Amino acid sequence: MTHALETQALDSLAARGSGHPEWIWRDGALVPWEQATVHVNAVGHASVAAVFEGIKAYLAADGHRLLAFRLDDHLRRLFDSARLCRLDLPGSVDDLREAILTLLRANACRTDTYIRPWAFPRGVIREQMVPAGTRCEIVVDSWPFHSHLLTPRGCRAAVSSWIRVSDASMPPRAKTFSNYHNGRLAMMEARENGHDWPILLNERHKVSEGPGACVALVRDGTVVTPSLTSGLLAGLTRDSVCALTRDLGLALEEREVDRSELYLADELFFMGTAWEILPITTIDGRRVGDGTMGPVTTRLEREYAAIVRGRSERHPEWLTEIPLDPG
Ligand SMILES: Cc1ncc(COP(=O)(O)O)c(C=O)c1O
Repeated sequence: MTHALETQALDSLAARGSGHPEWIWRDGALVPWEQATVHVNAVGHASVAAVFEGIKAYLAADGHRLLAFRLDDHLRRLFDSARLCRLDLPGSVDDLREAILTLLRANACRTDTYIRPWAFPRGVIREQMVPAGTRCEIVVDSWPFHSHLLTPRGCRAAVSSWIRVSDASMPPRAKTFSNYHNGRLAMMEARENGHDWPILLNERHKVSEGPGACVALVRDGTVVTPSLTSGLLAGLTRDSVCALTRDLGLALEEREVDRSELYLADELFFMGTAWEILPITTIDGRRVGDGTMGPVTTRLEREYAAIVRGRSERHPEWLTEIPLDPG
């Protein structure tokens, strides 16, 4: 299956193209979608330092609730990103959680919903270097998405010639829009060479991550994923998959990973909020396993899918319940 994630993005766009949500949350209040505008002068400067999150709320299997996955962890990471970028976010994690719940209720979200909070310097800033401590405004957008969990899928990955931005230059630990230029360059290279997604190495030439997801391999039943000091975003899906690996009694190694280990892996997969758990079926044109989702990936995916839909007893602390209005 090619470009599974592109398809997902297009699905989301199509869903939005037929109409946008009524409300958007902006700086403390619900605002009608059309009125949530900024002055054109603000855009360029704002985007340099802006930080954001991508969160998913899944419709529970019983159809009565949305379940936001690791909501508070995402919000804490947003505040961490702002701290690293020296931005001053108004309010607290509690405030932002409430804002998100208010928004989802106002938009009468009744289906799988992607939630994007982002924060950028307030107003028109005439300095190119946004000063430390600049007051930000926070916006939260949301739109429907289509989950690919529990469907046959896979992607072709390639090791990129682009090196992941380093903690010594632009910390990948911060989820800031400007870091995505690095992943975009790698993604275009991968596509031009007939693959779907790149895997970037870090400045030590060890495996770091994909442009929008962390990566793991399975060898002889052990799940191996680059350590958090390998030049990556501390992915919450990665963290969840590590916990599930332990729950299932499988061996887990979080450490530096060599490029050559990718070629010897029995299974390889990406993991991230948007990409969920996405098997990699070829790496640099070499087949991984038998070219389909491997047994360990399948077990992890099933557990993950059961949790996000509220069908599992495991990790209730990962879910924030949002009851749906019966109407
Ligand atoms: C660069 C990058 N790495 C990893 C991830 C995975 O993080 P998470 O699982 O928290 O979504 C993302 C997703 O946003 C990402 O953009």
